[in-house]
Amino acid sequence: MCGIVAYVGKKPCQSLLLEGLKRLEYRGYDSAGIAVIQDGALRLCKAVGRVSNLEDKLESIGNFSGTIGLCHTRWATHGGVTEANAHPHTDDRNGIAVIHNGIIENYAALKTYLQEKGHVFKSQTDTEVLAMLIGELYEGDLEKAVQAALREVTGAYAIAVMCEREPGTLVVARKGSPLIVGIGADEFIIASDASAIVAHTARAITLEDYNVVRLTAEGFRTSTIHDVPVTPRIEQLELELQEIELSGHSHFMQKEIHEQPKALRNCFRGRLDAKDGRVILGGLADHGKQLTNLRRVVLTAQGTALHAAMIGEYMIEDLAKIPSIAEYASEFRYRNPIIEDGTVVVAVSQSGETADTLAALQEARERGALSLGVINVVGSSISRNTDAGVYLRVGPEIGVASTKAFTGQVAVLAMVTLFLARRRFMSADQCADLIRALETVPDKIEAILAQNDRIRRVTEKYVERDNWLFLGRGYNYPTALEGALKLKEISYIHAEGMPAAEMKHGPIALINEGMPAVFLANRGRQYEKVMSNIQEVRARGGHVIAVATEGDEEIRRYAQDVLYVPDIPECLSPMLTVVPLQLMAYHAAVLRGHDVDKPRNLAKSVTVE
Ligand code: AGP
Ligand code: GLU
Repeated sequence: MCGIVAYVGKKPCQSLLLEGLKRLEYRGYDSAGIAVIQDGALRLCKAVGRVSNLEDKLESIGNFSGTIGLCHTRWATHGGVTEANAHPHTDDRNGIAVIHNGIIENYAALKTYLQEKGHVFKSQTDTEVLAMLIGELYEGDLEKAVQAALREVTGAYAIAVMCEREPGTLVVARKGSPLIVGIGADEFIIASDASAIVAHTARAITLEDYNVVRLTAEGFRTSTIHDVPVTPRIEQLELELQEIELSGHSHFMQKEIHEQPKALRNCFRGRLDAKDGRVILGGLADHGKQLTNLRRVVLTAQGTALHAAMIGEYMIEDLAKIPSIAEYASEFRYRNPIIEDGTVVVAVSQSGETADTLAALQEARERGALSLGVINVVGSSISRNTDAGVYLRVGPEIGVASTKAFTGQVAVLAMVTLFLARRRFMSADQCADLIRALETVPDKIEAILAQNDRIRRVTEKYVERDNWLFLGRGYNYPTALEGALKLKEISYIHAEGMPAAEMKHGPIALINEGMPAVFLANRGRQYEKVMSNIQEVRARGGHVIAVATEGDEEIRRYAQDVLYVPDIPECLSPMLTVVPLQLMAYHAAVLRGHDVDKPRNLAKSVTVE
């Protein structure tokens, strides 16, 4: 949720701030604002809508010229999408400006207390309460006022704060929401993620929870909210600028769908040894003994990552013979789960910042589970809170709709499954066969991508329909869920995924003339059963779009449209069958004229509950 960019140094910072904010706009984008201290005075500008609206407004009021500033794109949690609720928020006495990613959970009680102290609020947000609290506690030292205020709040925050009375000082802090401090020459660029920093420096500090940093152009000091000094770990940001550029594509989602062959080759590189029938996962090597004696695997995630986790559940039970379950993190964390000895919890997440997934992981660890991460963003909060893990290595994913991260998660979970299976019952030959099949996935995805125009034409036939069904069985039941989510979140068409057998238990009542029903009907153990379900839909006037295995002529007799994917062992098929679904969702969104990369109401990383 939300994008944060702040700067302190020797250069006029408005354009740097806004350039960085545009790179973060995928994180949340309902409104935006900027504050700069110019000639000792706080200057503020806010606008509803995209960063471009803020730029237009700045042009009209006169651009800012200070060398210290902060800016923010909002994803509203408390208070509607209005200019008054946009960040930065200020206090009413000391010229303090605050931008915030997260939720101040005890804001209501604090607001009452501050109102009784005579503070007058202008917004409905929780963030303004934090600004007023810092102002109330300010006694001439901004760092100490921020520390004191953060000792009073509960919830999640990544914040940047500055004050007219200390025009050269920036104070930033985090708990539960990401924040990175980029270290330049006599300047610091602070942001929610590396994409706003790498154009200026590759040296950075990733803040830990309860870290507070006071920065000036001359240097910085890191402490805790209790003012205990902290020695920061300076790291090298690995992100390359070209990885976060469109590179000729119309949308990041389009780029990331078509990047999947390359992304998966990167994911597999150095990890698959077909000759010896083994998978090499350095991130798990130190836990080989524990992983050999596993008695249960709990996978936890949200959204697309959960769909990948569900496929992991099927693979681990089917191939490694270990009892497994995939659970919504938001449910797992609160339902008092039983964690016995020999349990491993696997957190699956592209961003590594999803609040519920991080909390579920921490809950499991507190109950004694070994914790693994299957994460894309290196150094993210979840990756820093696991005992071990495997990075996806698919490169940064900017499009809000997750695509290459999904196939990357399934690929990594397949490798983890083989890693576990070889420590139990799977022979080297069996493993080698599956490794060789895994190695064909990138080329097979390329073959599917080559059908892009045909997939767009099929989508065009149904794009006006407002209700779609996605149905699959076995390994492709989660793929059906994923196809429905993709279509929903970027085309705003209502779509429902479910096990194909479940249709008869109610949803078949939805079938009417011409209703699109997408079936994952590739070769598999339940192919005949899926064919029967297709017949049931056809008998009621539904239009069937089938994703089928190349060479299957039978399916043409029953489906109005067939999208073919190459043959592959069923356990690996979701990495192929999902690709036509990703492309259909993409084309539907474009045909409906929606913003593919920034769909309404959404944000790339859900760092709040
Ligand atoms: C998927 O297209 C969505 N953007 C969303 O469901 C996402 O998968 C979910 O929020 C989990 O995000 P994560 O993988 O970063 O944890
Ligand atoms: N809770 C704050 C608000 O609603 C911040 C939301 C965000 O992370 O953008 O303004």
